[in-house]
Amino acid sequence: MNDSIIPTYKLPAEAYYEQSWLDKEKQNLFGGNWLYAGLETDLPEVGSYTTVTAGFNELIVIRDEQNELRALHNVCRHRGAQLVQGEGRCRTLVCPYHKWAYRLDGQLRGIASRDQFDAIETETLGLHKGSVASWMGLIFVHSDEHPPVAFDDWIAGVKSELDVFEAVKLEELKSDSFVFDANWKLYIENHIDWLHLWYVHPQTLKVLDHSEGEFSQHGLHWISFEPFKEEFREDAKGSSPLIDIPHIESQPERYSENGAHFIFPNLPIFTGSSFFILADLVPLSPEKTKMNIRILGVPGGDIDAFLEQFNAITKGEDANIIENIQKNIRSEHFNVGPIAVNYERAISDFHDNYLKFMA
Ligand code: FES
Ligand SMILES: [Fe+2]
Repeated sequence: MNDSIIPTYKLPAEAYYEQSWLDKEKQNLFGGNWLYAGLETDLPEVGSYTTVTAGFNELIVIRDEQNELRALHNVCRHRGAQLVQGEGRCRTLVCPYHKWAYRLDGQLRGIASRDQFDAIETETLGLHKGSVASWMGLIFVHSDEHPPVAFDDWIAGVKSELDVFEAVKLEELKSDSFVFDANWKLYIENHIDWLHLWYVHPQTLKVLDHSEGEFSQHGLHWISFEPFKEEFREDAKGSSPLIDIPHIESQPERYSENGAHFIFPNLPIFTGSSFFILADLVPLSPEKTKMNIRILGVPGGDIDAFLEQFNAITKGEDANIIENIQKNIRSEHFNVGPIAVNYERAISDFHDNYLKFMA
């Protein structure tokens, strides 16, 4: 075996607690990548908007007069105030500071106290633009108007594997969020760590046949599916508190299996015969992270029972074990030893991709 095929852990402990690493991530990784930013259904009408953080950039995603999505930097061209917060709907973006007003496509439309601004050309003072893309009802943004990689190329590796879920046809059944005391990357590493499935989830995932699962790296992203164990297969079918999704039933069997996927840099996705779950991770500080959960599916099941099962795994077991690691991260004896050649390989690949952006 040569070095290139031996997976290794490539990040130092400081990457999990130092503000300087998070600042660099904001600059290079979150500010330099396509990022998941919500659902198209969040923006149902002309003028509907939501706000998104992309590293150090604050973006507005808005539906313009032509019903097209736009990503605009939430930075007034007068003295830099934020135009809007949160979500809402408007006809014009009006700055709260001195009332400069912008059209939904970002063009500067009007200036209050116009006589104070002699010879300015309003055409040159539109809001700075970012980029926005939509894929099966999911919105992605990039803080750059001309991203170095087009969205279609960026998502290409996993598109064919996830398109079958046609999330655009599903309804949002429930949303939830929780905060945990660990660096966001530890959650990603755990999400793509196949080895822990046997040991952290011996009861909650006992119906799944981890040794028969398949996982694969697709450029920046990662896809996995695992079947139910033979003895649980019949029981597992129809045991979900949620209703099976009709268009998944007609797909090959693997799409009804338990799917756990990862869209780089911060979006775990979970799939199954009855659910499509988005669970993006937002770093609040180097040692605190928020997970935003949105469960899509078909109405009619017991969504509260489902969420309870989901949280028992993701929050009760996964977040708990990585908070455990975070407590050791500043220890002079903290060190990552050898990692599993196959079952932890995805962590090594994640580090390679991460470091390409951080360089
Ligand atoms: S900062 Fe926006 S109008 Fe002055
Ligand atoms: Fe897990």
